[in-house]
Amino acid sequence: MHDAPTLRRLVPGDDALALRVARDVHERSDVDPAAIAAFLTDPLCLWVVSLDDDEPLGAALGHVLRRPHSLRADALLYEVDVRAPWRRRGVGRRLVESFVAAARGAGAAEVWVPTTRSDAAALALYLRCGFTPLHADDTLLARAT
Ligand SMILES: CC(C)(COP(=O)(O)OP(=O)(O)OC[C@H]1O[C@@H](n2cnc3c(N)ncnc32)[C@H](O)[C@@H]1OP(=O)(O)O)[C@@H](O)C(=O)NCCC(=O)NCCS
Repeated sequence: MHDAPTLRRLVPGDDALALRVARDVHERSDVDPAAIAAFLTDPLCLWVVSLDDDEPLGAALGHVLRRPHSLRADALLYEVDVRAPWRRRGVGRRLVESFVAAARGAGAAEVWVPTTRSDAAALALYLRCGFTPLHADDTLLARAT
């Protein structure tokens, strides 16, 4: 790394970089360019990247969650990944802070992040960034649509 890495939000037109981030940082093998374009052009979708020159070191993505009864939105931090050689250098913390700032800028008053206690690195990162558990018995469920 030459200088400090830069941080920025991915925006419409960043499709080629976003494709690399999806493949090399988030390690997705099934990347659909149309999905990349749709994500980048949706103002409720947030994706920030840490770059050393043009090389992506890590990235965080998530969603602004609009609510029917209040213009105050919330945001969901869905995924944060730092490429293995760049871990434990503060890249993840800066990505989370950058995501929180982007969420604030998009009108969100609170950011939620799902995680598991067995993912010690992720849990430590979120606690270090000021997140606190909402309820001791929270459980995340999922089903197919
Ligand atoms: C979790 C992850 C994003 C952290 O990124 P990172 O760049 O290494 O994090 P940072 O260097 O900014 O660390 C910030 C704080 O998190 C904590 N932390 C990070 N990695 C840790 C680890 N392996 N063990 C314990 N604490 C850890 C520390 O408190 C650290 O602060 P410190 O360095 O001042 O002690 C990275 O380990 C990763 O990409 N893991 C694989 C993907 C993943 O699990 N993502 C999260 C779920 S989507």
